Amino acid sequence: MPANRNAPSQNAAATTSAVPAHVAIIMDGNGRWAKQRGLPRLEGHRRGSRTVRAITTAAFELGVRYLTLYAFSAENWKRPQDEVGGLMRLLEFFLKQELKTLHKNKIRLRTIGRTDALPAPVRKQLAATIAATADHARGTLVLALNYGSRDEIADAANAYAAAVAAGREPAGGCTWETFARHLYTADIPDPDLVIRTSGETRVSNFLLMQSAYAEFIFTPVLWPDFTKEDFAAALETYARRERRFGLTSEQIKGKLEVRN
Ligand code: FPP
Repeated sequence: MPANRNAPSQNAAATTSAVPAHVAIIMDGNGRWAKQRGLPRLEGHRRGSRTVRAITTAAFELGVRYLTLYAFSAENWKRPQDEVGGLMRLLEFFLKQELKTLHKNKIRLRTIGRTDALPAPVRKQLAATIAATADHARGTLVLALNYGSRDEIADAANAYAAAVAAGREPAGGCTWETFARHLYTADIPDPDLVIRTSGETRVSNFLLMQSAYAEFIFTPVLWPDFTKEDFAAALETYARRERRFGLTSEQIKGKLEVRN
């Protein structure tokens, strides 16, 4: 069973560093970007996928180790069929195009979400890209695909119950640490920073449990317009924040001891 790497450290100050290890992004505003220009929504997604490329490169250059992108939510299936189909084709194209860059930059690809429900060509391309980049260790790009936090929690509860039945987890001994071993993100640290573009200030069923102690930055910039400078500015804002994990400012600064 993988060791749980999600648990907040007892020494909270030790977990805080200037560059967030894990940044998660709710990429929002593609549709509005297109509408403002009288273009079809899919053109907004196409421009959004260019931003994905730029921000992925920038994030790992700036020292981020994990970048999670909310690329397709469990609720997005309800969008018009041509938009869903277009997004799937865009994803497949992106994966084909990106492989070279992922190799060059030593970035591993991962997914979270119920990817079994994705169209076969996307699943095939995902499997190939994940396998081809599995040994890269400079950073991890996590695509949230057909992802919903509530689905993830339900899936984890079922997996946990099965593990108890098989004697792999203690009956009646569920803690956050043992439960988190069954989340899609079991071997991914919790996000330190969650960014949402486009001025919306919602979490939209994204990493609800994992972002319990994350910092949030909401920017009015629409995703296709979001630049590496905007991303770097978000990291600067993050670096100025004090993460207290329930402690006092004095405890975080080491002026007061932390009681156990
Ligand atoms: C939200 O904008 C965005 C999405 C639902 C999809 C995100 C997809 C991409 C950025 C491009 C494809 C992804 C990859 C990884 C290549 P919205 O359509 O809800 O915008 P709106 O709120 O302005 O309508």
